[in-house]
Amino acid sequence: MAAKSKVSYVCTECGAEATKWYGRCPACGAWNSMEELVQAPTAIGNSARSAATVAAQQITAIKPDEKQRYHTGMKELDRVLGGGIVRGGLMLIGGDPGIGKSTLLLQICAHLGETLRILYVSGEESEGQIKLRADRLGVASDNLYILCENDLDSVLQCVQENKPEVLIIDSIQTMNWSQVTSASGSVTQVRECTSAIMRVCKKLGIPAFIVGHVNKDGAIAGPKVMEHIVDCVLYFEGDRHSSYRLLRCVKNRYGSTNEIGVFEMCDKGLAEVENPSLMLLSGRPLNVSGSCVACAIEGTRPMLAEVQGLVSPTGFGNPRRMSTGFDYNRLSLILAVLEKRAGYFFSNLDTYVNVVGGLWLDEPAVDLPVALALISGLKDTAIPSGVLAFGEVGLTGEIRAVSNADLRIAEAARMGFKCAIVPHHNFKSVTKRADIQVIGVRTVREAYEVVRDAVVE
Ligand code: TYD
Ligand code: MG
Repeated sequence: MAAKSKVSYVCTECGAEATKWYGRCPACGAWNSMEELVQAPTAIGNSARSAATVAAQQITAIKPDEKQRYHTGMKELDRVLGGGIVRGGLMLIGGDPGIGKSTLLLQICAHLGETLRILYVSGEESEGQIKLRADRLGVASDNLYILCENDLDSVLQCVQENKPEVLIIDSIQTMNWSQVTSASGSVTQVRECTSAIMRVCKKLGIPAFIVGHVNKDGAIAGPKVMEHIVDCVLYFEGDRHSSYRLLRCVKNRYGSTNEIGVFEMCDKGLAEVENPSLMLLSGRPLNVSGSCVACAIEGTRPMLAEVQGLVSPTGFGNPRRMSTGFDYNRLSLILAVLEKRAGYFFSNLDTYVNVVGGLWLDEPAVDLPVALALISGLKDTAIPSGVLAFGEVGLTGEIRAVSNADLRIAEAARMGFKCAIVPHHNFKSVTKRADIQVIGVRTVREAYEVVRDAVVE
């Protein structure tokens, strides 16, 4: 590698790199987002490597690290991580300010601190502030060390001296490495600091949580440059107005990326929500038009959620279409299918779809409940409250089979639902149950007719 430092430019919005500066990013079109990226000629922790130490190993002779997973004491977080923290793993936690990243990390210290030595580095809060929060959360452990520092060299020196068993960096944007001249939080700093932390942590086998702020588009600042360095990327999401928080995994080298964790922010910090269906359905209006319960699978877990559809006459001009928690284009497609294949007309009506609880449902199985909520809103006829539906809507108006039908029906029965409207192909193979009636349907029209006529006690 050349010893001379090389200059390139990187977009802070999308992470695209270019050899010269542009006023507008050629990749994503953002204005004034290109920043100078200086490739540092030397890096911490690299110097000790020499050719003589390199030796390839037979895969059969390598011991897996699986036993080295630490449990965080929060089942929801463990699940998202794929079973716990892996030794030497680097986990990036992103999310809006105030969503609860620092709270979550401080809370897990309570359990981890029983057996492991933890170093919590904060560049945002003072020791006193952290202590105040820790007292509130009931975190008191002699194994928890707090370091309020922005200088990365000092942090890494402290890590190398104290050899903690878990490292927490809150947040990477406040870290500053003196060898890089750019300001804290710039792409170059974030990238170099992350790589430096990674080298030290991998060498010492320390798992590290790194908090990353998100930019205005909701991506972690300096997104691509960080995501490929770390082992696991988690996003903490939630509506500002609701106390529920979802922890979603978008990259995981040690587990599935489909899992989500559900938390509720209480006055004593984050509480795990083990029964998300109950939470999502609480406060549901019964026997009103324009509402249908869906059963989606998030990861390996079935989850019931209410889908609402509102239909009202267009005031002027083009009808409005809006969707929250559901893909806008998918909504347009469902509306087109309903008009063309099922004879329900929305062309001079404004249509709004909302998934209650701040959840984002992108699974095809949610098509049918969305369609039913819209038809129910259009006809102003309520869907009985004990009925739920799932199924994919095809372009000819047919209802197509979805995966895990048994799991969804079992969850519906557990939550006290009496009738499930399912795709005909699923109906043929599902296990018959006494506590819930299952009805297979072939088309959207048939589904609505069945729902309308369903008698649920
Ligand atoms: P915080 O963890 O500081 O957010 P982040 O690190 O992601 O920026 O979360 C702070 C928010 O959480 C703040 O709005 C207050 C709220 N909160 C509670 O409601 N209860 C609590 O016990 C704590 C510690 C915080
Ligand atoms: Mg914080």
